[in-house]
Amino acid sequence: MAKTMEGKKASDRLAELTDKVQSSQAWNSIFRPGSIFRKGYTDSPRNRSYVIMNSVLYHLHPVKVKRHAVKVSYTLCLGGLSFFLFILLTVTGIFLMFYYRPTAAQAWDDIYTLQTSITFGLLVRNMHRWGAHLMVLSVFLHMARVFYHGAYKPPREFNWVIGVILLTLTLLLSFTGYLLPWDQLALWAVTVGTNMMGYTPVFGDQVRFVLLSGREIGTDTLLRWYVLHVLFVPFVTVIFLAIHFWRVRKDGGISGPL
Ligand code: HEM
Repeated sequence: MAKTMEGKKASDRLAELTDKVQSSQAWNSIFRPGSIFRKGYTDSPRNRSYVIMNSVLYHLHPVKVKRHAVKVSYTLCLGGLSFFLFILLTVTGIFLMFYYRPTAAQAWDDIYTLQTSITFGLLVRNMHRWGAHLMVLSVFLHMARVFYHGAYKPPREFNWVIGVILLTLTLLLSFTGYLLPWDQLALWAVTVGTNMMGYTPVFGDQVRFVLLSGREIGTDTLLRWYVLHVLFVPFVTVIFLAIHFWRVRKDGGISGPL
């Protein structure tokens, strides 16, 4: 009996505390009206709409979505997977940045030390490498899914164009990362790649010069590609991702069969 009374008191105290926290200005400034965490939330159609409208995570979709659009089997979550891989690459990339210096004298040694002497170094490096390969694959498969569903048709044609830019940026991220280990494979792959770009009509020589930061591959090329890889291309990608996600919502969510 005494135990039950104690238990009751504890539950009363918890209810009081919950009430106090939920009534505070700080709590209500974080959770917007209609949130399930607000005091007195009821499961009404209006509140359900609010939950979607006010959540950053649910914001990708419009307030009302077609039933097929929320099925994983429709999109195979390939867009979401591409985004997840982008985040994974950012996190693992930041780890690698702590141990890597982009100079011809240090780059290769730094990667070697990372793999052999740093705790989790080999694991994180491989996560970054495999993540990059997988992202190229998942973005390509996402594009194929969009194509086979005819989701590039109006009103989504602009988002298709944004998607093509994202595909190019994904390939650029992958290619600029290739030089950074500064090994024979990287050097010759980038030599072949930049030679091919040298055949660009009219501006070929200039494109090659800008990419190599000179006439041939050297330590300046490494610094240039490093900055492109860790700062410039990811920054531009984030901007286009934001536009891409915003348009998925504004174009009426995921398209359905005609
Ligand atoms: C970094 C690369 C990309 C990311 C992270 C990404 C992410 C997403 C996400 C999360 C969605 C909504 C869910 C889904 O369809 O899976 C989506 C939809 C869409 N994406 Fe992408 N995407 C990328 C690249 C591309 C590419 C390369 C294309 C085409 C060239 C494209 C075209 C579209 C279109 C048209 C939609 C709307 C699909 C529909 O209404 O059914 N995206 N994207």
